[in-house]
Amino acid sequence: MTGISAREAKSFYDWFGARQDAQGWYEDRAIAALLARAELDRARHVVEFGCGTGRVAELLLREHLPADARYLGIDVSSTMIGLARERLASFGPRVTLIEGDGAGAPLPIADGAADRFLATYALELLRPDDLARVLEAARRALAPGGLLCSVNLTHGAGGIERAVSWTWGRIVALAPARLGGCRPIDLAAALPDDAWAPVHREVLSAYGVSSEILVARRRGDTAD
Ligand SMILES: C[S@@+](CC[C@H](N)C(=O)[O-])C[C@H]1O[C@@H](n2cnc3c(N)ncnc32)[C@H](O)[C@@H]1O
Repeated sequence: MTGISAREAKSFYDWFGARQDAQGWYEDRAIAALLARAELDRARHVVEFGCGTGRVAELLLREHLPADARYLGIDVSSTMIGLARERLASFGPRVTLIEGDGAGAPLPIADGAADRFLATYALELLRPDDLARVLEAARRALAPGGLLCSVNLTHGAGGIERAVSWTWGRIVALAPARLGGCRPIDLAAALPDDAWAPVHREVLSAYGVSSEILVARRRGDTAD
């Protein structure tokens, strides 16, 4: 089975900690492209799965969200939650951080209370059944019309990109906990059609590493 469990993720990211912030060489441009498409100026309540050190949350709260918008971040790693708490302390009660398995227990948020569900380089490390659970948790947390916003490793199209994603996929397939379990996926293809309407998808590559930028709208309870 591909992907890693919450326990394996906790063990890796408790060790990896602040090193995560050194991945900007392939992540930064793709994260910026995602945030530009996420309609954040109209967001009221953002939930982030796998918030890591709080790097993206800080960007959101400082530069993109309305001053009264709230943010809830969840991460299975106590190291990551500790780093995020320090980093986001100045935003006070606008921020809630939860240490826990976002694919396990129900998210601590009322159904339909959020309008953005964000994940940056987090969904691609999940096992398929955990990914399905997180997508269902996102569907429940979002109000109809809310946006699922993900940037994740994906398969490249050009020669170098294909070689890099093939090699990356092989390393992780042989030892899933290496590279934090992250491997190239096609998230758009994994989204159930009856729950999500794609709004935007693009693939950006940096130094041969390809990222899928995906925004999808949660469908309403009646067909839309
Ligand atoms: C590759 S890091 C990305 C961190 C951050 N989103 C960023 O872009 O810098 C993946 C994060 O997902 C978290 N994670 C992995 N599995 C998880 C789970 N089941 N529940 C909550 N967080 C999880 C890890 O602890 C880690 O912080």
